Amino acid sequence: MSGDGVERKESGVMRMRRRKWLTAGLVLILCGGLLAGCSPAVREEHPANIRIGVTVYDQYDTFVSQLIEKFNAYASEKEAESKVAINIETYNAADSQTTQNSQVETMLSDGCNVICVNLVDRTEPSVIIDMAEQSGVPVIFFNRELVEEDLERWDQLYYVGAKAFESGIMQGEIAVDVFKNNPQADKNGDGVFQYVVLEGEAGHQDAIVRTEYSVSTVIEEGVEMEKLSYAIANWNRAQAQTKMAQMLGEYGGEIELVLANNDDMALGAVDALKAAGIAQEQWPVIVGIDGTDVGLAAVKNGELAGTVYNDKEGQALAMLNLAYELSVGGSLSELGLEDGKYIRLPYAKIGPEDVADYE
Ligand code: GAL
Repeated sequence: MSGDGVERKESGVMRMRRRKWLTAGLVLILCGGLLAGCSPAVREEHPANIRIGVTVYDQYDTFVSQLIEKFNAYASEKEAESKVAINIETYNAADSQTTQNSQVETMLSDGCNVICVNLVDRTEPSVIIDMAEQSGVPVIFFNRELVEEDLERWDQLYYVGAKAFESGIMQGEIAVDVFKNNPQADKNGDGVFQYVVLEGEAGHQDAIVRTEYSVSTVIEEGVEMEKLSYAIANWNRAQAQTKMAQMLGEYGGEIELVLANNDDMALGAVDALKAAGIAQEQWPVIVGIDGTDVGLAAVKNGELAGTVYNDKEGQALAMLNLAYELSVGGSLSELGLEDGKYIRLPYAKIGPEDVADYE
């Protein structure tokens, strides 16, 4: 019995001691927790290195590949300036959404701090959004704009691109200027601009919006338009050459204007005209969009009447700054985000006299 009592007494003392230890332990754990809570945050603000994952819909797309080149160049500059090592993993989705989804999965398991996605199919971002949200890793979509409802699905989703409608308006303005100032542009002298369109991908927001706005701008400026034909050439020079050759076969010299949704397709039209042996004085007016290196060269030598600058430098820099701040837990307030999610860079018109400013 007494033994029991001693035991009980001892165990009472022990319980008190244990309680004291527990309390001390808890304090330690709490402090440790607080410290631990602080230290990663401090570390996050000044990480020694960050990892950015990038996946592009097609690495052979001229504009996208030039944009990524700039992105890498800005990352090197940022690395030198910030002393934070910036590791970039880049993948080519080669036009497959399934491939792109698994690339994102790999990037997440590799521990990327942020992922930049140039969607293959802009209507299919769900798998990527779900995976990223589960891992708590922000996503910057770029160049191929998804619908607003998808971007609203999580507060760590962003979009970097350009104001597509602006490029259509500017392309239309270039065409109108040429028509009004060069009587020979109206080859048959009927006062109507007979045109064809070389379109990017079906369903791509830039393709849809550019075509719509370029044509409506010409009409609003008081020039009557007649659409002879259009063809989808997927932003691609070789495909555009084939499509333009077919349209030339059908309409020949009736075509007075080629509105191409991008420079590569405008150059495909040039290739077709050259291949058909048509003298440059007989060519229709051709206008592109992008201001890629080859596009600028073609404006300079007069093959294109003009192009519209798609600001790859601005977009690459905006994307890099956003990716960097998201990775280091920095502030986004200076980045010019619209609605906390969008960065859209403006376009600019380029005629022969402006090319030098962009080279
Ligand atoms: C557009 C660009 C095209 C093509 C496309 C790909 O903004 O003008 O040349 O790169 O994006 O999504």
